[in-house]
Amino acid sequence: MSAQFPVARPRRLRRTPAMRRMVAETRLSPAELVLPMFVKEGIAEPQPVSSMPGVFQHTRDSLRKTAHEAVEAGVGGIMLFGIPAVKDATGSGADDPDGIVQLALRDLNADLGDSTVIMTDLCLDEYTDHGHCGVLTGSGGAGGEEVGGEIDNDATLERYASIAVAQAEAGSAVVGPSGMMDGQVAAIRAALDGAGHPDIAIMAYSAKYASAYYGPFREAAECAPQFGDRSTHQQDPANADESLREVFLDLDEGADMVMVKPAGAYLDIVRRVRDAVDVPVAAYQVSGEYAMIEAAAEKGWIDRERTIMESLLSIRRAGADIALTYWATEAARRLS
Ligand code: PBG
Repeated sequence: MSAQFPVARPRRLRRTPAMRRMVAETRLSPAELVLPMFVKEGIAEPQPVSSMPGVFQHTRDSLRKTAHEAVEAGVGGIMLFGIPAVKDATGSGADDPDGIVQLALRDLNADLGDSTVIMTDLCLDEYTDHGHCGVLTGSGGAGGEEVGGEIDNDATLERYASIAVAQAEAGSAVVGPSGMMDGQVAAIRAALDGAGHPDIAIMAYSAKYASAYYGPFREAAECAPQFGDRSTHQQDPANADESLREVFLDLDEGADMVMVKPAGAYLDIVRRVRDAVDVPVAAYQVSGEYAMIEAAAEKGWIDRERTIMESLLSIRRAGADIALTYWATEAARRLS
């Protein structure tokens, strides 16, 4: 027995709920939670996403209603994803001024004003018929037999620049480039500034891994790649130092906030990024993280509410200032 024992008794500070509350090192609050939402063009009723119980592809009307509930619960922001009725090789729905996200942005701005932060995911995979995050070299899979090619990084940057301007013009306060193209933040910053939108912020998906945890999202956003995968642009799960390189590049290019994605399996990356930068750090608790907890809870194998709150607290404890989570509204209600 050490000389200190039993003088040091950490359990003294764990004895009652009031004591534990007083000494808690990490606290969660609704304002740091962001709700990702899907809006789909051309549907009459919201469509449930089977691999994400409780998550829907929304109509414009159901999006408004659900966004309103999120704001009532006090969530800090909304991250919008659009699914067009028609997809093509260049993802032309993404920067169409009357594209689904642009329409939804106008709706939400009219309804919600400044009561929350309305953000948009900026990528092409939801909009291209081949499901890739950019335009392709070669034949490009524009519906013909000859599907193939690679993502053309620099041609894709031109598309991202145009999407950023379309989103800003429709009222996005923050654009979130998630395609992991080299130079995307610089291209978007220049386009926004050039089009008279110097005040629109960029939340860069800087450290985004080629992750199996995105599986259910591909159902929600109908964006599974028709061939190949995303490992030539998203990061290898084996790498950690590389995340810092990506984060610093994005900050040099003008990112206002940086993101780590996924969250739960990458909390070491969240901590390293938090310790390395002085801008807000976001972490995205992705679709697979959501689906795993919902599925295990449905089987009665874990306590759903406790697991959800513990997962979010852990993201905060690792150092994230902002957590994107499909449970944002529910968690915010529980916290307030
Ligand atoms: C790309 C994008 C993806 C996600 C967010 N933005 C899919 C991907 O990179 O394959 C995944 C989010 C989730 O799994 O919840 N537009």
